[in-house]
Amino acid sequence: MSLAGRELILGVTGSIAAYKAVYLLRELTRLGAGVTVCLTEHARAFVGPLTFRTLSGRPVLTDLFDPQSPDAVEHVALAERAHAVVVAPATANLLAKAAHGIADDFLTTLLLAARGPVVIAPAMDGGMWEHPAVRANVATLRARGVTVLEPDAGALASGLSGRGRFPDVDAIVEALERALAPARDLAGDRVLVTAGPTREHLDPVPLGRDLLLLRDLGVDRLHHLRRRLEVAQEERGDGGDPERAAAGPRPRHQRGVHLGFHHGRDPVAF
Ligand SMILES: Cc1cc2nc3c(=O)[nH]c(=O)nc-3n(C[C@H](O)[C@H](O)[C@H](O)COP(=O)(O)O)c2cc1C
Repeated sequence: MSLAGRELILGVTGSIAAYKAVYLLRELTRLGAGVTVCLTEHARAFVGPLTFRTLSGRPVLTDLFDPQSPDAVEHVALAERAHAVVVAPATANLLAKAAHGIADDFLTTLLLAARGPVVIAPAMDGGMWEHPAVRANVATLRARGVTVLEPDAGALASGLSGRGRFPDVDAIVEALERALAPARDLAGDRVLVTAGPTREHLDPVPLGRDLLLLRDLGVDRLHHLRRRLEVAQEERGDGGDPERAAAGPRPRHQRGVHLGFHHGRDPVAF
């Protein structure tokens, strides 16, 4: 699901990773989305609104009671216009407030007014992420249908190492695309995808032609399969070029993409 023409709200909270939201904003606008940025008061201590205003081309919102706002109830008007809300980075504090329906600033009030998909990308110290209170809040949000991404593992701002790093921008964009995809994206298709270690053809059709067939069938436009194809193509090292893939060696024990037909014309890629 393309983000082009989509109206998004990017919420940014008071994490040391707040500057990474700038890269996310750039990517969202590059993909053609219209983005309105909401900063919490504490986020403003980390990154100034001018950067976000310049890159989004829109006013940045923080104050629930802003007398300059064009809409009397701006948080509701904005929430109704938005196709989706993404909070990145999200603090432990934001997770707690969202899980419990607390609405004490612009962003948390807007989250209650939002009716579209919500994607949350947490970033915090590893110990905080593992705290039972945070785990419970994440579980509550997920049970409610909110997409809460797993933070990445690695070196943290505290100097410690653990899971708590701001997720990759591509992973956040992918989660947004998935959240916005129509629920019946694969309606009528029976598609099996695996990343099995061997590369054996179900039938004598060469791999290059398999990939062309996948494209002809439009499978590479289906979000989940497209990403799997990209990964497999990268791992195979043929740059996704079907001609090279067909001409190249075919080691038996290597990840790859295969196409077979299962009950007629339904594609099976593995
Ligand atoms: C230097 C510094 C870095 C911080 N980084 C984080 C962080 O990455 N994640 C987090 O959950 N809280 C972090 N905090 C704590 C939050 O800023 C604090 O909980 C704040 O109340 C969050 O407010 P907000 O959720 O309204 O933005 C940090 C605080 C400081 C002083």
